[in-house]
Amino acid sequence: CGIVGYIGHREAYPIIVEGLKRLEYRGYDSAGIALFDGKDLKVSKTKGKVVDLEELSEKEISKHGKLGIGHTRWATHGVPNDINSHPHISNSGDLVIIHNGIIENYASLKKALTLREYTFKSDTDTEVLVNLIEDVKKQEKVKLGKAVQIALNQVIGAYAITVFDKNKPEEVVVARLGSPLAVGIGEDEFFIASDASPFIEYTKDAIYLEDEEMAIIRRHKGIKVRKIKDDSIVAPYIQKLQLNLEEIEKGGFDHFMLKEIHEQPKAISDTYRGRLSRDKAIIKMAGVEDNMKKFLNANRIIIVACGTSWHAGLVAEYIFEDLARIPVEVEYASEFRYRNPVIREDDVLIAISQSGETADTLAAIKLAKSKGAFVFGVCNVVGSSIARETDAGAYTHAGPEIGVASTKAFTTQITVLTLMALRLARAKGTINSSDFHRHLLELEMIPKKVEEALKSDAHIRIIADIYKDAPNCLYLGRGYNFPVALEGALKLKEISYIHAEGYPAAEMKHGPIALIDENMPIVVIATKKGHYEKVVSNIQEIKSRKGKIIGIVTEGDTQVRELADHIIEVPETLESLSPLLNTIPLQLLSYHIAVMLGKNVDQPRNLAKSVTVE
Ligand code: G6P
Repeated sequence: CGIVGYIGHREAYPIIVEGLKRLEYRGYDSAGIALFDGKDLKVSKTKGKVVDLEELSEKEISKHGKLGIGHTRWATHGVPNDINSHPHISNSGDLVIIHNGIIENYASLKKALTLREYTFKSDTDTEVLVNLIEDVKKQEKVKLGKAVQIALNQVIGAYAITVFDKNKPEEVVVARLGSPLAVGIGEDEFFIASDASPFIEYTKDAIYLEDEEMAIIRRHKGIKVRKIKDDSIVAPYIQKLQLNLEEIEKGGFDHFMLKEIHEQPKAISDTYRGRLSRDKAIIKMAGVEDNMKKFLNANRIIIVACGTSWHAGLVAEYIFEDLARIPVEVEYASEFRYRNPVIREDDVLIAISQSGETADTLAAIKLAKSKGAFVFGVCNVVGSSIARETDAGAYTHAGPEIGVASTKAFTTQITVLTLMALRLARAKGTINSSDFHRHLLELEMIPKKVEEALKSDAHIRIIADIYKDAPNCLYLGRGYNFPVALEGALKLKEISYIHAEGYPAAEMKHGPIALIDENMPIVVIATKKGHYEKVVSNIQEIKSRKGKIIGIVTEGDTQVRELADHIIEVPETLESLSPLLNTIPLQLLSYHIAVMLGKNVDQPRNLAKSVTVE
């Protein structure tokens, strides 16, 4: 979920609505807003997106007020409908809250409150929390800030909340545990949001709350940060934001996803810039240099991640083992954390996360740290929870990724992990200097080659048109490109809702081959090197079952051209770097299919970009 709040001298409505649109990547099942117009509380909320909320507020509320909060939801408790949408109001009608996260013990809290005659309109845990705060406030006769603190000490779960009392419109209380919360500081005004994007044009000064911190924001008296547990005062660290407005706008593209696909040449070079010097034949990454001993003495590397980041982890497994000869295990963060894993002090855990906020990944990090492992983060969002929780790390420098389906985050994650593997290989002596040099040279050519690969766009659109109505699709690849096949299938699934599966090409004969007939499109990654001949045999097997073959091939390929129904060419590169190029046509293919099917490419149904619940 995304939350936005404003208290100050401007009209809050446009700031909140614009802000919510920027946070829709966090969920878009429903949206709501509460404004204090100087006299009363006006609430408007609805199932659907922020544009639906705008339409509704036209009719429902006067949009005046210099204090307000808004929410865009990714449903956890209760189906997405109008009533379950946030904000939620307490029984007295005084307190209003927005919440991102899950209150796990909400049922017992609700029961206790029901016994005290509280009633509930929605099925949400959030409505329980706002009434708990109200109950504490009344019973203990304390101010709102104190009541929030006492209530949160009774809560088990995760939250970022913003709450205010309509009788005290000079004050807003915020708190965080597990879900991000930033406070933008202007002159005589404050902005509250899940990330800084909603207030970037108003102020560059922001405080990011840490877990278990809360803040009382008084319009004229400033902000006070405290620890929720022991009430101690925290001196807030005011950060200067680097984000620009242009980075979070579409810049002439129809969709963020398309813009982000096209940003990859720049994003990849931004990622290695300053880290790779071909002249000096070195790679330098501060987080790795400072902890070189940990890496060199590592018993093994465990990679944890979710979704697309997990696929980047699988690519990294090939490259770390191949080049640096370090054993690697790749785990879904959600599985790793709950299966009582064996973690040793000489294990290095690498957590990969675009958002740096994924709840399961964060929990896996905490678990590994508690067992004494060294934890390294590969994140895109600067200052995110995972970036802060890890012992060291390397940012991907992809810039903000707004399309829910991850594209440039994936290729830049692979770039960082490749740099790491090469650096460690050099330090360990598992790569000779000519191979090392060749890798640096090739890596520097990748952005140009991605640009080349992007030129197939029109041709890919034609292929998309032919297969857009297929109910199923198979993606095959081997070695380094097996994870690319998984990622290609995920992209199609996510945005076009066509069922797609990625498989190691050789594994096809152990199951998926049963699905192949003349209606089944099969995307086969068949670039040169990397078991090319074996993949060609797999293509023969598909052909004999009349499957429709879309081959991703190296420029100038003749063998697959003869067998496949369609080919998409990519420039030649080293096998270890081929995922960076082979991913590009798969992204474009799913993009065009989804657009042709009229799907919401940037905000596919049921998904959220940043999943801060487990
Ligand atoms: C969500 C997103 C995916 C993303 C995954 C992991 O499911 O929709 O695109 O890959 O979370 O997110 P992270 O921010 O940790 O990379």
